Amino acid sequence: MKKFTKVLSLVLAASLMVVMLASCASSGGDEIVFGTNAEFPPFEFVTANGIIDSYDGIDIAIAKQIAEDNDMTATIENMEFDSLTIALQNGQIDAAIAGMTVTADRAEAVDFSTPYYTATQVMIVKEDSDIQKATDMADKRIVVIQGYTGEVCVQDLGYPYEAFKKGTEAILELVNDKCDVVVIDSATAEKFIGDNEGLKIVEDSEAFENEEYAIAVKKGNTELLDKINASIEKMLADGTVSEIAAQYAESDTEEAE
Ligand code: ARG
Repeated sequence: MKKFTKVLSLVLAASLMVVMLASCASSGGDEIVFGTNAEFPPFEFVTANGIIDSYDGIDIAIAKQIAEDNDMTATIENMEFDSLTIALQNGQIDAAIAGMTVTADRAEAVDFSTPYYTATQVMIVKEDSDIQKATDMADKRIVVIQGYTGEVCVQDLGYPYEAFKKGTEAILELVNDKCDVVVIDSATAEKFIGDNEGLKIVEDSEAFENEEYAIAVKKGNTELLDKINASIEKMLADGTVSEIAAQYAESDTEEAE
């Protein structure tokens, strides 16, 4: 009986230490909550062994480094792309990192960091498609992703289209011949054509201008924005961003089922 009590108290003491150590680790620095929409490889995707929980990609690596540079811990909140601005405004997240293009409209609602990546919209079509430039889409069935800048581009061209919530859903439409073309960001398009047979990318630099990706914070949150900018500028200057981008462009970013 006595021995049992001793063992029990040892076990209790050991578990108490584990609990104390665990709480130490998380109270070591502040937390920075990044919102994203993990449907956008190679920038963010869900995978079995991500670098923050089950999340991985260029943006996730950048988020992690920003947190590290500021002695903070990065956590990820995955949500619909359309919800990121509201989540910033109501304080649910501290920053949005989601391959988000800087636009004048968005800049009215949020503050943007120094841009860290340049992209453009492209058209994904079947290999045998006759689409060669944006105006060739005029009489085609066009699919975009809801709320992405690609949707705005097609709206500006004045063509009818159908919008889906996820890039993978849009690609499925194309693969199944339910549409003729998907308009989406360049690096993500590269990933999708790598993951699906029989598709190709058509570019039109006259129709689609360059876009800059940046991190968004709540309007007026200069304290966080300064920290983010210092870290991004350092990562741009020392080549970290290009290294991360090249690494994820090559690696397998297909989502874990
Ligand atoms: N760059 C495009 C935009 O800003 C698409 C971004 C989509 N990002 C995502 N994580 N789903 O609208």
